[in-house]
Amino acid sequence: MLRYDTPQHIAGTGGFKPTPAKRRLAGGTPAVYYALVNGPALLFVHGDQIVGTVTFDITNGKIATVRGIAAPTRLAATRAGHPTHHPVVTQRRPRRGLRPVHPERTIVLRVTIFGANGPTGRLLTGQALAAGHQVTAVTRRPESFPLRHDRLDTVGADVLDQAAVEAAVAQRDAVLSTLGVPAGKEPISTYSRGAANIVRAMRRHRVRRLVVVSSSGVDPHPYSDGGLLFNRVLLPYVTRVLGKTLYDDMRRMETLIRASDLDWTIVRPSGLYHLPSVTDYILVEGHADGRFTSRVDLAASMLALLDTDRYLRRPVSVITTVDNPTLFQWIRSEALAKR
Ligand SMILES: NC(=O)c1ccc[n+]([C@@H]2O[C@H](COP(=O)([O-])OP(=O)(O)OC[C@H]3O[C@@H](n4cnc5c(N)ncnc54)[C@H](OP(=O)(O)O)[C@@H]3O)[C@@H](O)[C@H]2O)c1
Repeated sequence: MLRYDTPQHIAGTGGFKPTPAKRRLAGGTPAVYYALVNGPALLFVHGDQIVGTVTFDITNGKIATVRGIAAPTRLAATRAGHPTHHPVVTQRRPRRGLRPVHPERTIVLRVTIFGANGPTGRLLTGQALAAGHQVTAVTRRPESFPLRHDRLDTVGADVLDQAAVEAAVAQRDAVLSTLGVPAGKEPISTYSRGAANIVRAMRRHRVRRLVVVSSSGVDPHPYSDGGLLFNRVLLPYVTRVLGKTLYDDMRRMETLIRASDLDWTIVRPSGLYHLPSVTDYILVEGHADGRFTSRVDLAASMLALLDTDRYLRRPVSVITTVDNPTLFQWIRSEALAKR
């Protein structure tokens, strides 16, 4: 995430003569700041909003790559209040209604996605590309990854391979993880070992922003619409028996992420299901009273979290309230389909 609120990161200010078109798009004349944001950068600021950026990769003292200001068309779209996909972000008490999160600050980021080839990861990769970001998709099976794009780099890597994780994380602005393994009786360690490698790599390469999927199952609460059978029988069975090793490992993952000094957000969805498009989902700090989350909403919420500092170092829950499956439909599509 690009931020300009840390004074020591601002190296100075400079002059900038925007064309009338750029002035119109930015809503006035932007001031220009020289800054260090994961490297040297120019930030174009109007009022308290970043309206564009240019970042530079320096190799051997020379500018190797320049990444530019958000495209005028995109700036125009965001200023008009029509960001690609932005969520309902709620206070402790959930509120409804589509409210974009700082749409004016949506800027191009270099993001790495672990678990990119899973059902949520593919949606997240597509949404990140649609939002204009430069995406590195990490999968152990790059040959089966279906997406192609000139801003997409598909990397074959195992998250348990520290060197490969380092390479995938270096020189990025943010890391997103939708990594997952099936529940089973065997011990599970992919979440915690993978997260340990990601955190280590991010610290080494000074990448600060991390958004990781966990699950509402790590801290189960009864649901108001759950009924006796679900709350007293099914939920304890899934979280303490069927998925015990999985949730134990997710808790280890959460503990080590919380102990890091990164700008992390842990995202806990409920039962995942498929919907064709993003809905008016609810995102709330801590626990949410909802049994289902669509994958497309989960992906959209993760991407939207890159645009706000509001949930830094917090666990959040995201739930979908539209077209929820019945329990039977969900078990049939999720539990049985993955066998
Ligand atoms: N299903 C639910 O109802 C539910 C509920 C709450 C939370 N969640 C969590 O939500 C997340 C997303 O779930 P999902 O169903 O979309 O995805 P998923 O099927 O759980 O898997 C995501 C991807 O992780 C990758 N992966 C696994 N081990 C890896 C490793 N060692 N190195 C690199 N990549 C690895 C796999 O891709 P490759 O094989 O291509 O590498 C896989 O496709 C998961 O963390 C899941 O636990 C699920």
